Amino acid sequence: MPDLRFDGRVAIVTGAGGGLGRSHALELARRGAHILVNDLGGAVDGNGSSMSAAQRVVDEITALGGTAAPNHDTVATWEGGQAIVQAAVDAFGRVDVLVNNAGILRDKAFHKMDRVMIDAVIDVHLKGALYVTQPAFRVMREQGYGRILSTSSASGLFGNFGQANYGAAKAGLAGLTRVLALEGAGHGIMVNAIAPIASTRMTEDLLGDLAAKVSPESVSPLVAYLAHEQCSVNGHIYSVAGGRIARIFVGETRGVVLPENTAEAVRAHLRFIDQVDVDGCHQPSSLDNETSIIARALSEAS
Ligand SMILES: NC(=O)c1ccc[n+]([C@@H]2O[C@H](COP(=O)([O-])OP(=O)(O)OC[C@H]3O[C@@H](n4cnc5c(N)ncnc54)[C@H](O)[C@@H]3O)[C@@H](O)[C@H]2O)c1
Repeated sequence: MPDLRFDGRVAIVTGAGGGLGRSHALELARRGAHILVNDLGGAVDGNGSSMSAAQRVVDEITALGGTAAPNHDTVATWEGGQAIVQAAVDAFGRVDVLVNNAGILRDKAFHKMDRVMIDAVIDVHLKGALYVTQPAFRVMREQGYGRILSTSSASGLFGNFGQANYGAAKAGLAGLTRVLALEGAGHGIMVNAIAPIASTRMTEDLLGDLAAKVSPESVSPLVAYLAHEQCSVNGHIYSVAGGRIARIFVGETRGVVLPENTAEAVRAHLRFIDQVDVDGCHQPSSLDNETSIIARALSEAS
């Protein structure tokens, strides 16, 4: 079968000035896509800005013989979202792929988290994805074609101490993915999400021995597949790290119809309500648990 190419396709990658976004941008460019490299160029906590982050990646793509344009608007405002999509249309005439990747961290135990920490993280991750995706979705609907990917996280899907703001935003992206998968289906638009673990500046102190096995580059092949015309899945969420890919899904147990619908009956039947009987599925209890499942799978495979 021929390689998965993106000739004639236009992709926006937000937060592509470093880490995972840079890797996705390079992978799509290497396969022929024209890339709008968006990045505000701030620190991990979102403070500051610099035009050089996006420009550096544009230069890397150009040096490889690819085509890219820089964009420095923030994803975190309505105007920024509109400007990012308009910049892609102005530079390349269409938008086929959107990778929502821009992100920041403001971690703190929930009882100590202040309003700015809540607002900044929700603004970039959750509102940011909505603000960029909506104008892109409109362009894609007009074209009758599009691929949208959002970057969720095990933090929101499984839980992680100190990340109430981030986890809530990342779980929100799973909801956005499910809804847009339905709304886009009749218009040639497929919408999926990834929950990566990769060694970037965001995780540099957190991954220990696993860091060497989970490069950003190991996440981008899945992104390229999901961004491609041949992608055959819609509304899915994948855990991806170091070449190990697994689907994360929302499941439901068989359920119980209570003989009497009372709190006491819930107490008496909870064991059966909660009982999961799907063979072979993991139910990670936290991001840490998910991380050790990945680490075990990777070390068993090596
Ligand atoms: N690294 C991991 O293990 C991991 C795990 C789960 C999810 N993620 C998610 O992956 C994405 C990429 O993270 P990363 O690990 O590569 O970190 P990173 O800090 O290297 O990359 C994030 C990029 O987003 C940019 N950015 C931040 N705010 C922006 C804004 N308002 N507008 C435009 N750009 C902005 C930053 O300048 C930065 O270049 C994030 O959404 C992150 O939450 C990462």
